[in-house]
Amino acid sequence: MLKSQLQKEIENIKNNNLYRFLRKKDNNILDFSSNDYLCLSKHPEVIDAVKDGLKYGFGSTGSRLTSGDINHQILEEKIAQFKGTEEALIYSTGYATNVGVISALCKKGDLILSDKLNHASIIDGCRLSKADVLIYNHCDMDNLIHLIEENGSSYNNLFIITDGVFSMDGDIAPLDKLKKIADEYNGILIIDDAHGTGVLGNGKGTLKHFNLKPSDNIIQIGTLSKAVGGLGGFVCSIEEVIEYLINTSRSFIYSTSLPPSVVSGCIKSFELIEEGALTKKLQKNIELANKIFKEQDLIEEDNLTPIYPFIFKEKTMDIAEHLMKNNIFCVGIRYPTVPRGMERLRVSINVGHSEGDFRALCECIKKFK
Ligand SMILES: Cc1ncc(COP(=O)(O)O)c(C=O)c1O
Repeated sequence: MLKSQLQKEIENIKNNNLYRFLRKKDNNILDFSSNDYLCLSKHPEVIDAVKDGLKYGFGSTGSRLTSGDINHQILEEKIAQFKGTEEALIYSTGYATNVGVISALCKKGDLILSDKLNHASIIDGCRLSKADVLIYNHCDMDNLIHLIEENGSSYNNLFIITDGVFSMDGDIAPLDKLKKIADEYNGILIIDDAHGTGVLGNGKGTLKHFNLKPSDNIIQIGTLSKAVGGLGGFVCSIEEVIEYLINTSRSFIYSTSLPPSVVSGCIKSFELIEEGALTKKLQKNIELANKIFKEQDLIEEDNLTPIYPFIFKEKTMDIAEHLMKNNIFCVGIRYPTVPRGMERLRVSINVGHSEGDFRALCECIKKFK
């Protein structure tokens, strides 16, 4: 019986201290869990743009190929101009983008080299593709080159796939080195810049952080749900890549497009990011958090991104619970999202946090150190 089998498996999850459940987040709680790095999800100009987008109706009513575009192309032009690429294509989520792009482009006879700490949506995209997949050690360029030299020669195409900023660690992929390796071995570099967009390189992302220009062998993916503050995903690249995806990418073709109000809000968000002040403010807050977290021995080195992994291992869930009781929302992250023994509080900061907020968080954590 399915029911009893599932009950048993849930019990097992509970016994292993891996049980997940949904929690309501009150509006007035001190939030260190959100990816709304620039607080654009609540920005009044973005909200006005969302309201304006409602003039097109609540939903988009279907896939763009069958039901047509509303304001979707305006956002795509904006993203392509923002990222400096020929074209862009939007999807309904960042997850759907990774799954849809990787499974369409990487085929039988191709080889994918994927960083060990890549996001689950990249892993699922690799699983759905017909390509062979090899995992290289996290940001380990020697290991990557070794795998390419040992295995790469018999494949049609070689794809190197990496997060730009790693979602659970906040560290930055060495895109300068990855680009060189991609060039040297005639490979294609796919960057999931979910956490770099709006944050690094004056908001333009991790590629810009390294002063690299978009090129024919780079495909940039991103999400509209983190620094942009809304919902959706995008891919930016050369015209042929986008044209091919429109024709073959299943999560694009067989799924209803984003509601026009969300699209309008995202266009406004990109305009605000381009003004530059918000990204600068975020960098200032990262500097402030670095100072306070260092004073409290929570980090050793300065962070460049707003994601701080405080690795408390088996104490993590107790600390998260204690924070919750003290009106601070910051959930614990466990296996399989992070490796066993690397359980952590994933603290993400944003432009709305104050020095007092950082200190309140530290004060609450202190007694567990
Ligand atoms: C690195 C990375 N890629 C992709 C995604 C998926 O994006 P979305 O939440 O828009 O589906 C996330 C976030 O969940 C992420 O952290």
